[in-house]
Amino acid sequence: MSGENVLFEITEQHLNTGLRRFPVGHVRTSRVDPQQGVSYVGYPIADLANLDPESAIYLLYNKELPNDDQLAAFKQDLAARASVDGAVVRTLQALPKDGHPMEWLINGLTLLGMTGKTGDFYEDGLNLVARSAELIANIFRIRSGWGDPIPSDPSLGLVENFVHMMGVPGADKQQLTKLLRTFYILHMDHGGGNLSTFTGKAVASGHADQFSSLAAAMAGLYGPLHGRANQECLNFVKSVGTTDPDEIEQFVRDTLSGGGKIFGFGHAVLRAEDPRATVQYGLGREICGDDPLFKTALAMRERAVKVLKENPKISNPYPNVDAVSGTLLNASGLTDSDYYTLLFGFARIAGITAQIVDERVRMRNGRGVPIYRCSYIAENQDSRRLS
Ligand code: MLT
Repeated sequence: MSGENVLFEITEQHLNTGLRRFPVGHVRTSRVDPQQGVSYVGYPIADLANLDPESAIYLLYNKELPNDDQLAAFKQDLAARASVDGAVVRTLQALPKDGHPMEWLINGLTLLGMTGKTGDFYEDGLNLVARSAELIANIFRIRSGWGDPIPSDPSLGLVENFVHMMGVPGADKQQLTKLLRTFYILHMDHGGGNLSTFTGKAVASGHADQFSSLAAAMAGLYGPLHGRANQECLNFVKSVGTTDPDEIEQFVRDTLSGGGKIFGFGHAVLRAEDPRATVQYGLGREICGDDPLFKTALAMRERAVKVLKENPKISNPYPNVDAVSGTLLNASGLTDSDYYTLLFGFARIAGITAQIVDERVRMRNGRGVPIYRCSYIAENQDSRRLS
């Protein structure tokens, strides 16, 4: 193969590797640099982490940050789109409580589609972002048995209203809001090729609507190797059982020699500490610096990296986005880790719907990207005939 447009030469050794490193298209919302981590439309994620979440949503949809007037208008627009049909809540109330919260979300997204889709990718994308707050708050309340749904307060921002509608028993609302505003921005988007985003765009390429495409995307996020890793991380930090750095180092060594995994470290693309983790370590110092689990997570940041670096086969020994997120959520009153992927999904809905809008109605001069149709090389399939 030759020519200036050749990005990669595909050889036999690239097959069956999960499309690692293979470009399959263009992405306009975000970019993941192995050293610098993710940026949204050119802005490093750390610079965006303290903005209004609505500013970051606006950025992903419009490719520029809003000025004050644009932001105020956008917040009003989202609030006007936010109402969820009563049939959705009634159906959630009938779901089996032992289903995982992500299974509830997958169902909830198709219910939102059944009760309110327009068929327009842009309109449905923003409607879905706006309605996801009430949907997900109700999943928390109904599945956890916290009581009846709390009515939405459209005068509040998206995340503030979400915290209000969740009504987490015993939580410090201010701390939880501060954390979730940042958590939302950090988790919105991560390039075009992560599993949930790729899946959502692939399904939308067959012209399924945003709601069904996002249900498929969230099924991707539900996998323990993707979004559900964040719930395992809190359990892992809890299992360490000490804040002493030397004991933690020994714990890491023992875990590795027993064939175990160090949760929250490593990434398919990144080759340095994930800036989304860096922001969360800083936030943790502010909101829960004395929390013993946070101290454990901080010591892990140093000692796990030290031990993992000793193995030359490990290409990325550094913390990823999940390393400390569960610890912060736990310290802020959300103690059931089964719900952590749901919060990841809440944020990721913004990025995936924005990428679907780009692929469906903006790219190729508005014609959109064709239906995904890759090829597989047939194996063990010599010609046969029925005798
Ligand atoms: C993500 O945010 O989607 C994860 O870091 C996984 C990935 O980028 O592949």
